[in-house]
Amino acid sequence: MLITDIRLLAGLNPTGAIRLRGHEMNTLHTLADCWLRVDTQKGVIAGFGPMSALDGSTEPTVSARGGMVIPAFCDSHTHIIYSGSRDGEFLDKINGLSYEEIARRGGGILNSCDRLHNTSEQQLFEQSMERVSEVMAKGTGCIEIKSGYGLTTADELKMLRVAARIAEAVPATVRATFLGAHAVGRAFAGRQQEYVDMLCDDMLPAVAAEGLARFVDVFCDEGFFTPEQTDQILSEAARFGMRPKIHANELAVSGGVQVGVKHGALSVDHLERITEHEISLLASSDTAATMLPGASFFLGMPYAPALKAIDSGAIVALASDYNPGSSPSGDMRMVWALACSQMKLNPDVALNAMTINGAYAMDCSQDGFGSIAEGAPANFIITAPVPSLAFIPYAYTTPWIERVCLAGKFI
Ligand code: NIG
Ligand code: FE
Repeated sequence: MLITDIRLLAGLNPTGAIRLRGHEMNTLHTLADCWLRVDTQKGVIAGFGPMSALDGSTEPTVSARGGMVIPAFCDSHTHIIYSGSRDGEFLDKINGLSYEEIARRGGGILNSCDRLHNTSEQQLFEQSMERVSEVMAKGTGCIEIKSGYGLTTADELKMLRVAARIAEAVPATVRATFLGAHAVGRAFAGRQQEYVDMLCDDMLPAVAAEGLARFVDVFCDEGFFTPEQTDQILSEAARFGMRPKIHANELAVSGGVQVGVKHGALSVDHLERITEHEISLLASSDTAATMLPGASFFLGMPYAPALKAIDSGAIVALASDYNPGSSPSGDMRMVWALACSQMKLNPDVALNAMTINGAYAMDCSQDGFGSIAEGAPANFIITAPVPSLAFIPYAYTTPWIERVCLAGKFI
């Protein structure tokens, strides 16, 4: 299949980079007035070039009609598998309760756990598939999905089996993360360390035995898990080859950055509170700093200091954090708009953070995810004929996605 009349093809990768660090993020590689060829059988990009150099071709052709083509979004942090919603807590928040207060009253994550426990695997699959279908239509081509609303071995496995079924069912690429340490399960109330020991002794081996998760996550934050417990869990998970992606510094400076970097985490995520020292630590590491502006927006928290982190030389990624409590949206178009308007990122920089660096934070940029390159997965968005790339996050409610191609097929 040939796509012609592309005004701007963005997200090229001339150096074969697997991530962009610091000021490397400022450059978005592009080609103007060009075509793109897709190998629909293999689901990969077969080539691209200027319209002026297009010879007669008999293959099926789709005109981009002067729109742009950008890589599909790589959303490296979601909790998209959950049951029902938490709109009741939304009302509590409107009436003045904080995220922490709701959690302390037994709401929050444990509320979602109760609902998930009472939902069959099939129903959970169907509810979650609706969300995944929605975000694919909104341009997400590669998505990380966490467990963490089970908090018993059986329910964590239930969530991760649903993630595996989703991965089979959709053209998007799914990467699953075991987040048994999202909160302390109800049966272990007041016995946090015992819960952590059970997680290491029972949950981790069970998850590993079924090969259900590549990554491991811990909510290392005030009121949740300590850096010592995080260290224990990550050490244990390493024995099963599970790489860390850590929730850190959402509610307080938690020590999560340090323990994540120590264990060679793919990413440390949130970072709404962060010290200068932690920024330099990230800048001198290969761990991505993943920022989640949707959570800042919804909870009224400070935005993570993306510009400062980039200036210091960190690898910054942006993700949605799609979850029922702190970010009930997986719309990466909104993430882009917030990154520009609130975090003051240039639209090109933000797009790099949501594509190649998001893929890096899921350990799949080396397979071409997040870039437009020959041989890379044919995952891209054709835009409406927008006047500029900046128009997209600027006109932040104007529909601009014309078509989404995943694994070489329009969805
Ligand atoms: O990333 N911070 C921890 N986990 C989620 C929220 C989960 C929930 O409230 O259900 C987050 O914000
Ligand atoms: Fe999260």
